[in-house]
Amino acid sequence: MKRQKSALHFTLFFRPMRIDVITIFPEVIEAGTDYSIIKRAKDKCVLDVKVHNLRDYTHDRHKSTDDEPFGPGAGMVMKPEPLFEAVEAIRSTAGDEGKVLLMTPQGEPFSQQVARELSREDHLIVICGHYEGVDERVREHLVDREISIGDYVLTGGELPALVVIDAVARLVPGTLGKDESSVEESFTEGLLEYPHYTRPAEFRGWRVPEVLISGHHAKIAEWRRKMSLKRTLERRPDLLERARLTDQDRKILLDLLSEKEAQSKNTGTHNSVEEDNNADY
Ligand code: ADE
Repeated sequence: MKRQKSALHFTLFFRPMRIDVITIFPEVIEAGTDYSIIKRAKDKCVLDVKVHNLRDYTHDRHKSTDDEPFGPGAGMVMKPEPLFEAVEAIRSTAGDEGKVLLMTPQGEPFSQQVARELSREDHLIVICGHYEGVDERVREHLVDREISIGDYVLTGGELPALVVIDAVARLVPGTLGKDESSVEESFTEGLLEYPHYTRPAEFRGWRVPEVLISGHHAKIAEWRRKMSLKRTLERRPDLLERARLTDQDRKILLDLLSEKEAQSKNTGTHNSVEEDNNADY
């Protein structure tokens, strides 16, 4: 069932978002969800994280969760029985199906968009993969979504699970305060953040851009937007294709590109558009 958004729904039917994690290293997930914003979300009953030791769903003396692969080759494969039993036990106590995620480098790339989709679910069941992989029947008949946090191979799915839980929890209504959620909004716009400064206004001879101490709110907003566009153009031009841009933004981007072209003609080098945060102000 998808999370409903109406205020009435929240008043009448509010339930914390539930995330069950199945792992052979429960301490890692417990430690990783017991600090900062996630802990606060748990304390405020916005989020309910339950950690399950996969070994509790084994029936042999050695509590084996893996076995040798059929066919030649090294490496071990995670057995299907404990994983199915764990998910079925969780579903039976929760009284719903939940959405089953498998953390694996073969999964779909994790992104803010995927985090947003997952944050609308009532219940996630996260399986932390290990060894060479999991028995294919788990993928085919138990898992709803396979997720990778990047093109590199980690020892196991625990750290990726924590990454996903963190990004999702931030989006669950009630987790963040008003000030904290503004960072989200900027990324949701599809641009990178503008540079931030705090006191002192001068540190080791480096002054903060003058506009920021001018007290002129409209000019500061304009500067921040320009810096966001500059930074995105410089570091992640791919994001600009999907960003929500106004006509004014497009004009700024064209100006930045012409500035860059002029600079490289003058110096014969490629100058970073980020070099001068005081430009034009
Ligand atoms: N398990 C190992 N590496 C992983 C990755 N990059 N993403 C998700 N799960 C993983």
